[in-house]
Amino acid sequence: MLLEELKKQVINCKKCSLSETVNNVVFGEGNRHAPIFIIAEAPGKDEDLQGRPFVGKSGQLLDKILDASGFNRTDHVYISNIIKCRPPNNRTPFSDETDSCMPYLLKQIELIDPSIIIMLGATALKNMFGTHMKITKVRGQWLTYNNRLAMPVFHPAALLRNPALKRETWE
Ligand code: URA
Ligand code: URA
Repeated sequence: MLLEELKKQVINCKKCSLSETVNNVVFGEGNRHAPIFIIAEAPGKDEDLQGRPFVGKSGQLLDKILDASGFNRTDHVYISNIIKCRPPNNRTPFSDETDSCMPYLLKQIELIDPSIIIMLGATALKNMFGTHMKITKVRGQWLTYNNRLAMPVFHPAALLRNPALKRETWE
């Protein structure tokens, strides 16, 4: 299957009730041959309005962190979320929503075939590695996911809420 075909499927998906309130499904974007796949939680308000991942305040911080690390969105990374539709009021996704949507993300990872996966925040970590995982414990550590290197780091929104977390992330 091609990424474009998957995108069509995701955009027309009605598997959960978020399809009733979504403005724009956010499939993901970046280099489809990127060595780094960044996974976050879910589209927020700005993302829902524009149909693109990380275009709000968190996105600006993410771009700054990528830039300082010598990376950019066009060349080095592909960015998507655990779920592709915005949950009302940005609440954490429910399990029926993540159950419906995770197969799309896993297919996306397979098609893009990155060597490195970066998980932004607790929701990305828990849905990839299990609910027992604690972001505060394992952030910054290399794990493996199907022969790919995988690292959980704090979500940029957490850094904006709590700037004291920034130093560890930059390191
Ligand atoms: N926060 C997320 O988790 N994902 C986005 O795409 C934007 C903000
Ligand atoms: N809690 C979260 O949900 N995400 C973080 O990145 C840190 C704390």
